[in-house]
Amino acid sequence: MPVDEDKYPVESDRRRFVKGVVGGASLAGIATAGAAAVNSTTSSSGGGGGSVTFRAIENTDGPAPRGMPQIPIELEEIPGEDDAYIKGRWPEVSEVEEQGKTIKVAREDIAGETYSSEWFQYCGVQTYPGVYPDATEENSDLTNYFRYNGNSKFTWQNEEVSGGQKMKLSHFSDYETWGNGIGTAGIGKPASGSWRSEGLEPSETMAIEVIRSSRIEEAAQDNEWLAQTTDSGVMAHLNKCTHFCCVPAFKGQAGAESFGAADAVYCQCHQSVYDPFNIISTNFVALPRPARD
Ligand code: FES
Repeated sequence: MPVDEDKYPVESDRRRFVKGVVGGASLAGIATAGAAAVNSTTSSSGGGGGSVTFRAIENTDGPAPRGMPQIPIELEEIPGEDDAYIKGRWPEVSEVEEQGKTIKVAREDIAGETYSSEWFQYCGVQTYPGVYPDATEENSDLTNYFRYNGNSKFTWQNEEVSGGQKMKLSHFSDYETWGNGIGTAGIGKPASGSWRSEGLEPSETMAIEVIRSSRIEEAAQDNEWLAQTTDSGVMAHLNKCTHFCCVPAFKGQAGAESFGAADAVYCQCHQSVYDPFNIISTNFVALPRPARD
């Protein structure tokens, strides 16, 4: 896949990271297909790729080929507190026969649609420990809580919470007024973090973004899918640009205003734009998870 180096930001760490992921993902797609075929009789964890219909925050501009996958969320009440943890819901794990092999899959029906781990299998994420269907059973450190990352693009996050802390609903209580000088205030409050990635290397971290917005709250009132996959106006998505795998942000880059994306999720690498308030059904070809021993 050709990479236009001129379009990458000059900051060298990001540039190396992006190039590494792109190369790795491209090669892994070829290599792991072979590995899965060879090792399928000795492992039940690999596989799971192919054409997948998924829910995405819509891609509205730029070179990205499709939207980024939504992560259905759930709130877990905190005993003794009038508050709740925000968690990403993981699909139910089961064993199925596919092409003569028994494999584990994470798939479940939500509002008549199939939610599966395959939604997240692109950009190298298909190799991350957290994307394996039974990851949290095999690695008790991994959980479905959303946790903040350190050094966020959001000042509020850097000042009020710390990296590794679980996201709580109360942290977003000012969502109807919050603003940071980028775009319109009061349309949604974002945070960046990780999911199913505790204790793993940064290169294995499933980056996520959470937004709490009255627009989501209103849309969920007459939309069964949103009613079951968002709560109290909170929605989430896997934060990997479908173009070349950068990490975008909602109101995280002042430069977004130049591209009409001040009120959208904007990827600074090549100016792709996503609308977090338009969650659509679309499809792509998911990469297979490499087989493991
Ligand atoms: S990585 Fe190219 S637009 Fe996001």
